[in-house]
Amino acid sequence: MTERFTSVEDSTGFAFVLFGGTGDLARRKLLPALYAAHRDGMLDLDGKIVSVAQTALDPSGYLEWVNDQVKPHISGTIDMQVWREFLERIVYVSGDLDKPEVFSSLSDALSATHGTRIFYMATGPALFVPVCHALAEAGLTEGARLVLEKPLGYDLESSNAINDAVGKIFDEDQILRIDHYLGKEAVQNLFALRFGNSLFEPLWRREWIESVHITVAEELGVGGRETFYDQTGALRDMVQNHPLQLLAIVAMEPPQSIDADSVRDEKLRVLHALKPMGAEDIRQNVVRGQYRAGAVRGETVDGYIDEPGIRQDSSTETFVALKTDVENWRWAGVPFFLRTGKRLAASVAEIVINFRAVPHSAVGSIALRPGSNRLLIRLQPDELIRLGVLAKQPGLDMTLQKVHLNLAFDQLFQRRKMDAYQRLLLDVIAGRLALFVRRDEQQAAWNWIAPILREWNAPGSFTRLYVAGMWGPAAASALLARHGTCWLEEEN
Ligand code: BG6
Repeated sequence: MTERFTSVEDSTGFAFVLFGGTGDLARRKLLPALYAAHRDGMLDLDGKIVSVAQTALDPSGYLEWVNDQVKPHISGTIDMQVWREFLERIVYVSGDLDKPEVFSSLSDALSATHGTRIFYMATGPALFVPVCHALAEAGLTEGARLVLEKPLGYDLESSNAINDAVGKIFDEDQILRIDHYLGKEAVQNLFALRFGNSLFEPLWRREWIESVHITVAEELGVGGRETFYDQTGALRDMVQNHPLQLLAIVAMEPPQSIDADSVRDEKLRVLHALKPMGAEDIRQNVVRGQYRAGAVRGETVDGYIDEPGIRQDSSTETFVALKTDVENWRWAGVPFFLRTGKRLAASVAEIVINFRAVPHSAVGSIALRPGSNRLLIRLQPDELIRLGVLAKQPGLDMTLQKVHLNLAFDQLFQRRKMDAYQRLLLDVIAGRLALFVRRDEQQAAWNWIAPILREWNAPGSFTRLYVAGMWGPAAASALLARHGTCWLEEEN
């Protein structure tokens, strides 16, 4: 894990080549993150950003595009002098990635840069392999790094095909598969909580933990990414990566150190230990949902199939809830519940660890006080760690009440938090691999969801509808109720 913010000493020049330079990710996340790194003095002065895209713009036209499209996604006030200096780093190469000409223009642009070349594929996965071949043919790959955005492929076979093909051009330690959840401050804090304190480790096991819930919920719909989303769905877009990575970090054994392979080896062991899903398991323990019209924060919103560009008969899921088991000594018998979806009642990402109830209550009934003996680790919107415990109300009687031991990071550390992409891009530039997903981890995650994808393609499989602005289909609550638990909703 990165223990400190990257400083300029970590690199001597770089050329950050951004394929998909006018795309949504570049506009909303990548260029704002590079700007933030520049503003914070963390980018080598000799570093250049070479944006590549099909949009026919001359260099000044692209800078205008950046001015109009990227600035609104930067938080805080922008110092215009700093912004102008940032723009000076940017070079634009326009062209069709299917044609060789764009790679000779790119080669020319790169000849004016120094330091490590980074090729960031912020494009659809269909372009990953052809672009890598073209880069190799243009002689640009020596010592370079390749960054691949998720989802890498569409299923196990296609992701293997991409990994095999790019693996012939780049070594594994030159390939950085990004999962931006790993760059979130709260995920780093989860490592600190688990492995920096002796308090939790003895309790972090089946003897003391009853269940683990992981929620990554969004109020947003699929606006602007309809075509991509309709072919992808929540299982591939989310479950395969962010929630499974969180699960792996919650369940992993303490790594020997926080270097890249120690951490990734332990996460991999967890992914391998996930109970394989059979057809009956999937019917019982996986809920597939799609939103219909409803209201989010008081605003009426369309149903998924009424979004522009979505097929009226689409059964693509915008919600998944599931139960899984980690079949190893530490976790046998502890259900792990994952849930993710769009157009839900709140935008929140959190992990809930439910500890077992006391074996005998000497201080009155505890049954009516849910939420005690619970550790909440919230990643967003606010970052917090909250332990629910029972305390006695003042007075003569032994009346118990649930209270919180609360660690609210925004109040505790009143300084600007580094955005996940900023951290990860600095790691890309410095070549630190710990927060990137290794091929075997990714393969294990695809492998685990493969039976679900197969089952959902089988005749008779169906998608449940839920009202936008609610917490998904009722079946998602029923799934937990069958295991004597419930999702944590609306605890502030
Ligand atoms: C991306 C998914 O990986 O994560 C999006 O493709 C999703 O569909 C996004 O909206 C959520 O990320 P965050 O950081 O906003 O929770």
